[in-house]
Amino acid sequence: MRRIGRRTRRKIFFIEKNKEVYEGNIRIIAKFAKYFAFCEVSHRITRYIFNKKYNPLISYFPLSMIHTLPILSYALDGLEPYISKETLEHHYGKHHKAYVDNLNNLIPGTEFENKTLEEIIETAPAGPIFNNAAQVWNHTFYWESLTPQGNIIEGMNIGELILEQWDSLETFKKAFNDVAMKTFGSGWAWLVKKPDGSLDIVSTSNAGTPLTTDNTPLLTCDVWEHAYYIDYRNRRAEYLEKFWNLVDWEKVEERYNGI
Ligand SMILES: [Fe+2]
Repeated sequence: MRRIGRRTRRKIFFIEKNKEVYEGNIRIIAKFAKYFAFCEVSHRITRYIFNKKYNPLISYFPLSMIHTLPILSYALDGLEPYISKETLEHHYGKHHKAYVDNLNNLIPGTEFENKTLEEIIETAPAGPIFNNAAQVWNHTFYWESLTPQGNIIEGMNIGELILEQWDSLETFKKAFNDVAMKTFGSGWAWLVKKPDGSLDIVSTSNAGTPLTTDNTPLLTCDVWEHAYYIDYRNRRAEYLEKFWNLVDWEKVEERYNGI
């Protein structure tokens, strides 16, 4: 029988002595392994449920696109004396903002949650999502149609086109104002570019918008009462007359040219 050396005996002695410690460590490692496996499985299940949008925690982790209130290119008192700071505080700061907030509250969990504003308007059925999306877009378009003190149309291509169709700028303004005045209840008056390049004046009710037609919007005037009631009470005609002092014809020209 082969004699075991001193070094080997010391190794065996050491292993025997620490056997319980080794086994204990293995048990601890096994527990950690089970724990990590549990975590991984839990993580995968949570992700699956989260992706299926059944998890109530989804409201704390919004995955949908967030629509925001646009920043105006002028101060809230920048449109005075024709449209007051108080009107902008309410019209922009409360009404327009409410449409943005409503839309952000309506779309999570729907097919519209990751669509752009324009995509929502073009695809949503009649109802709250379309109404709020269209009102967000219409108002942004309205604010961008205006500039403090306005600017002159003379010398612009859009001016020439208006003269060709309406003979004079005053005749065009009167025609636009007539459409705006005849818009029953709440709505919008628009100057649009038709597919053949000619111009037209159209009216939309409530949240209606030319985006859902073949026409390209160039200019709009908001004729909801909230747009003018603080400054003009129920005198829509007076509001429309003052509106022309604020029109940004450079922007209208850009829109016509597709810029
Ligand atoms: Fe409005």
